[in-house]
Amino acid sequence: ERLPALLAAMPKAELHIHIEGSLEPELIFAMARRNGVSIPYASVEDLRRAYAFSNLQSFLDIYYAGASVLITEQDFFDMAWAYLEKAAADHVVHAEIFFDPQTHTARGVAMDTVIRGLHRACTQAQATLGVSASLILCFLRHLSEEEAFQTLEQALPLRDLFIGVGLDSSEVGHPPEKFARVFARCRELGLHLVAHAGEEGPPAYVWTALDLLRVERIDHGVQSTRDPALMARLAKDRIPLTVCPLSNLKLCVFPRLADHNLGALLDAGLVATVNSDDPAYFGGYMNDNFLQTFQAVNLHAAQAWQLAANSFEASFVDAPLKRAWR
Ligand code: HPA
Ligand code: ZN
Repeated sequence: ERLPALLAAMPKAELHIHIEGSLEPELIFAMARRNGVSIPYASVEDLRRAYAFSNLQSFLDIYYAGASVLITEQDFFDMAWAYLEKAAADHVVHAEIFFDPQTHTARGVAMDTVIRGLHRACTQAQATLGVSASLILCFLRHLSEEEAFQTLEQALPLRDLFIGVGLDSSEVGHPPEKFARVFARCRELGLHLVAHAGEEGPPAYVWTALDLLRVERIDHGVQSTRDPALMARLAKDRIPLTVCPLSNLKLCVFPRLADHNLGALLDAGLVATVNSDDPAYFGGYMNDNFLQTFQAVNLHAAQAWQLAANSFEASFVDAPLKRAWR
């Protein structure tokens, strides 16, 4: 069978990975021990057993608990380096990596510690793995817009170490328009703009992410198929969707992987991409997402090629490098 080999070996970009969601249980326990942080799980196995989610919030509760072991710049470096080595093994040649600074600054970790540790891993990945990697700062949407503004302020001395901003955490009840002013400011600063929308939330949240936040990509966006006018808009403006099939399965967005609408998104001409979201929690990195999804929804080599091409088109790399990759 040649398709699995093609999926595994084809060069690809990953555009939807939360670096805190790449923290494996073994690393959580190692960091808890070396930092003297206590976590409410007896062992790696005990923690992994807790990874049985019913929706987004049930995951987020455990994800934020896991992130509480991150204290030093070395912790942030080690976490990102472990991810980048796995990305390289999966033939990811470019990654745009989300991070959630508020999860850390709320515990007294300095913004500088977070960003410098992650950025050092990105620099080393380019030099020693041949993977280019950039950072996207995410605002937590369950917190206030005022807190997002304070977070932006804290990060601006390191403006050159991240390329854009995103919006993540609990979606329903926290629509994109809650963050219209801070996104307008980020746009003035020349930052790239993305937002999670239409993961669990309605198509209306995708519309407001586009029209009020003016984002360049939608993270997830799988609920868009419920709104034909939205599908037409996404296709016409070539707005990429960073789709995460194993995440959608584990968070019960679709009952079975076979029910996933990735094929429908591609058939509608959308710039859909495949990504891992929180691979340590959802059972797979990039190639696991490709292999399992292609098997479950019966996609073929043409779609593999399309998804790889889409991932580069949707990326924020400079146009000349994009042309070279094509
Ligand atoms: N959705 C929203 N917030 C998140 C996610 C997600 O899939 N992963 C980490 N934070
Ligand atoms: Zn996500």
